[in-house]
Amino acid sequence: MEVVIAPAPELARLAADAVEALLRRRPDAVLGLATGSSPLGVYDELARRHADGGLSFARARGFMLDEYVGLPREHPQRYRNVIDAEFASRVDLMPDAVQGPDGLAADVPAACAAYERAIVDAGGVDLQLLGIGTDGHIGFNEPGSSLASRTRIKTLTEQTRIDNARFFDGEVERVPQHCLTQGLGTIMAARHLVLLATGRGKAEAVHQLVEGPVSAMWPATVLQHHPHVTVLIDNAAASRLQLADYYRGAYASKPAWQGL
Ligand code: F6R
Repeated sequence: MEVVIAPAPELARLAADAVEALLRRRPDAVLGLATGSSPLGVYDELARRHADGGLSFARARGFMLDEYVGLPREHPQRYRNVIDAEFASRVDLMPDAVQGPDGLAADVPAACAAYERAIVDAGGVDLQLLGIGTDGHIGFNEPGSSLASRTRIKTLTEQTRIDNARFFDGEVERVPQHCLTQGLGTIMAARHLVLLATGRGKAEAVHQLVEGPVSAMWPATVLQHHPHVTVLIDNAAASRLQLADYYRGAYASKPAWQGL
């Protein structure tokens, strides 16, 4: 696991560099797309590189991490609509290139199984963007999630609903109780995981992710078992790391050829 501590705009550029390098190497790459605040700077940077530098997503595909259950098709906070607004509509992704779990499915288990199959049929995710919840969730795998879980329905914790109320005019009761989310096992199958976190509110979750014992109580800790994880955090999110100076030094002296 590599930990990079830098200001937020630099983190967004580094994540965009990783996506760009992948697309230049493999134009039909499969991207894993997170929603929430954390990846927004990355989507802005990728949209800018598309507009200014001709970075093309025309052959790429995307799979979303999660989706709320039951939000109407046109609801602006339906993650499918968020991804379209924040990313897909700003680059040249094909209209059907991005898929997400179907939060309106009548048969939820069948929809989750179909989503797992679609990811496998696409060849798996090459690069997965991730945020992290204050309670240590990735995707919406809340504390107690099986470390081997696959796409399924989950109940959001009260803390996550409070955290996400800012997207629903501050009204917690409007945040859906249920979601469909890629499981921890699904996320672990992606080839490169790039997690972004900023702000002091994420410091404890980041500390557990990087330095804590692997435990379903802090679901993101499962990433310690993944061979290629990049953790991009600002000073505030790094403020509880015991080995912060070591991570800073290691990144500063990293061989130039190594990349992320
Ligand atoms: C969103 C997702 C969540 C968020 C997490 C952090 O698709 O999977 O795990 O990444 O809740 O949210 P922000 O970035 O809004 O702090």
